[in-house]
Amino acid sequence: METLHADRKKMDAATDFLPLQGTDYVEFYVGNAKQAAHYYKTAFGFQSLAYAGPETGIKDRVSYAVRQNKLTIVLTTPLRSGNVIADHIYKHGDAVKILALRVDDATSAWQETTLRGAQSYLEPLTLKDEDGEVVLSGIHTYGETVHVFVERHHYKGAFMPGFREWKTPYYNPTPTGLQYVDHCVGNVGWNQMNKWVKFYEEVMGFRNILSFDDNDISTEYSALMSKVMSNGNGYVKFPINEPAEGKKKSQVEEYLDFYNGEGVQHVAMATNDIIHTVTELRNRGVEFLSIPTSYYDELQERIGKIDEDIEPLKQLGILVDRDDEGYLLQIFTKPVEDRPTLFFEIIQRKGAKSFGKGNFKALFEAIEREQGLRGNL
Ligand code: FE2
Repeated sequence: METLHADRKKMDAATDFLPLQGTDYVEFYVGNAKQAAHYYKTAFGFQSLAYAGPETGIKDRVSYAVRQNKLTIVLTTPLRSGNVIADHIYKHGDAVKILALRVDDATSAWQETTLRGAQSYLEPLTLKDEDGEVVLSGIHTYGETVHVFVERHHYKGAFMPGFREWKTPYYNPTPTGLQYVDHCVGNVGWNQMNKWVKFYEEVMGFRNILSFDDNDISTEYSALMSKVMSNGNGYVKFPINEPAEGKKKSQVEEYLDFYNGEGVQHVAMATNDIIHTVTELRNRGVEFLSIPTSYYDELQERIGKIDEDIEPLKQLGILVDRDDEGYLLQIFTKPVEDRPTLFFEIIQRKGAKSFGKGNFKALFEAIEREQGLRGNL
């Protein structure tokens, strides 16, 4: 059963031991950061922002930061083998390593969370250059994924000390309207969901705002369970999925097999105009899951009146769902690397704060078709 917890009022600031201002950046460990940066610029419309590498005093790696509105992606690759970054890529493929969260006080964030049982990833570290100061700290979460807390002190440089501004005078594809990180979903192992729900509750002060069991999410074949964790102000939302028993292999299990463990399944990026954004992305080569046109036959009856015409939604394969606060439009890319692991969601919210439960069946059947083509169903 879907459970929408009644108590959704903002957490009293005085009791919020981990006040978060939102996602600061998402960092990927990739096999080739130069080419990955090109992909996120070309396909998704991100803009060149900052560079770190041997030329800026970082000897073991290269990182490119790209940005679109409030979305910042960092792409990092190791310069040699036999180190934690290279091992991460060998084990997981190109993957999300860091979900970085903006805080007022990175030292307090680290103290409060490690005091509550978090395993430290990075003790508070102050980085300085001529543009100011940034304080970082970090803790481990599921799999090899980590949260880094970022305290910026009105830092005036392009990104953070260690990076220099990265400008590309001859190649700057236009933005596609992507705005900010709406939510990031983690896939965890069998019977591990409640452990991580407890982690986000106890260690980070999050609350479980929505739950979906396998009756909500099972299609004819595969199944999963999911709980949505949110921080007090709702700026940071982390749904956690675990596989459930179905007639065939769960999509979460396929992910766990190919990722070699627990990790980030998808990052949802918000737009204010999904038809424009998805048209742009599709024209630039981003591949989306295809939805049968029958999905649109009774859409109007199911969700009521919406601002958009149905025809362009049908053309693009955009899904629509309604809850008691409004509606949302969403679409899912195919995996963005060769392993069937990470993908992106593009979402436009028109009042709705939920996650598209009404679309789960159509969505998961689309995923299963792809799983079947890969021979993993
Ligand atoms: Fe999502």
